[in-house]
Amino acid sequence: MSYAKSIIDDIFGGIRPAARALDRSASTIQGWHEAGTIPQKHWNDIIEAAKAHDAYLTPQDFFESAAPAAASFGYGFKQPHCLSIDDFHRPDIETLLSLGDHYLDLGVQKNPDRSTLRGKTLINLFFENSTRTEKSFELAGKRLGADVISMQVATSSVKKGETLLDTAATLNAMNPDILVVRHGSSGAPALLAQKVGCSVVNAGDGMHAHPTQALLDALTLRRAFAAKGEDGQIDGRRIAICGDILHSRVARSNVKLLNRLGAEVRLIGPPTLLPTDVDRWGVEVFHDMEKGLDGCDVIMMLRLQLERMSGAFVPSKREYFHFYGLDRAKLAFAKDGAFVMHPGPMNRGVEISSDVADDPEVSLITQQVETGVAMRMGILHALSAAQDGASS
Ligand code: NCD
Repeated sequence: MSYAKSIIDDIFGGIRPAARALDRSASTIQGWHEAGTIPQKHWNDIIEAAKAHDAYLTPQDFFESAAPAAASFGYGFKQPHCLSIDDFHRPDIETLLSLGDHYLDLGVQKNPDRSTLRGKTLINLFFENSTRTEKSFELAGKRLGADVISMQVATSSVKKGETLLDTAATLNAMNPDILVVRHGSSGAPALLAQKVGCSVVNAGDGMHAHPTQALLDALTLRRAFAAKGEDGQIDGRRIAICGDILHSRVARSNVKLLNRLGAEVRLIGPPTLLPTDVDRWGVEVFHDMEKGLDGCDVIMMLRLQLERMSGAFVPSKREYFHFYGLDRAKLAFAKDGAFVMHPGPMNRGVEISSDVADDPEVSLITQQVETGVAMRMGILHALSAAQDGASS
């Protein structure tokens, strides 16, 4: 299908609705539809008008070769939940990343449009501690105009012995539109999603998945490559994820997403901190930072997750830093100009040295937090639009 047909039919719903939305005659639109192209002087009007249909076009979408990208903007997302990267097809991922990009462009601080989630209720339900993730969902929901409640699990009935499903039933009775859940057990958000009548977002479940972190990491990288004047694609980049892979839901979601986006993913860590089924992850595994970091464009460091360790997985923190902690010397094994990331919270001096973490030339750690709010706005927007589409 030509880009003109896909914009007219898929975004505006056909020739007549497009004519009305663009204030042009139906015969003009018909002409574009038949020719398969749209004259450049109309592009800006179309980009503006498409926003009302939740489609965020760029001038690139008006080139023949960009037609598949146009088909994946905003309007195609139909997923009811955000539970795992596995649930998303490439167009879903592109849609989410474009929406995140859009909110980052708007400048999350100054976004004047608080109508996207107006009248909707978002409940944050965090059974595990969180600073970044919980606050960024709270901010994202508020910036889109939702009513946001953050349940403090420590003060809620959960501490009095209420089961997860009782809590779900109670929350469901409050009719939320979106439930954002973090839980120490893998699969808890998916179980909740079966029991409640609203969208569920997995904000981290056990060692299983953390899809919103993977999406914000991908968006952070695209922007960082673009800011360097390179093509903003992840395709073909060599990316190393290092450290405590075994206990990391961030690593699991990132491997899935980065593989899907065409990166060459490497895992580096001691054998005791690598999962036994890692040969099925579609990655190359290294136990040595020097070999593993060779030629890497990006180094993602992971926190040593002591709270999930039931025994001694590393001899001592000092020894761990010696072999696997990222400092200047180990950074030099990667490509010149490689980026460093960390989902936070960091154990400084254990998996990363402060001079690397705080160096704005290489570290994207602050950008990850900023991008996190915009990316979560994008995710909430997409889920809310899918709900509205399903009910109309
Ligand atoms: C991560 C998490 O909770 O899985 N942090 C986060 O979401 N910002 C990683 C971690 O806790 O180490």
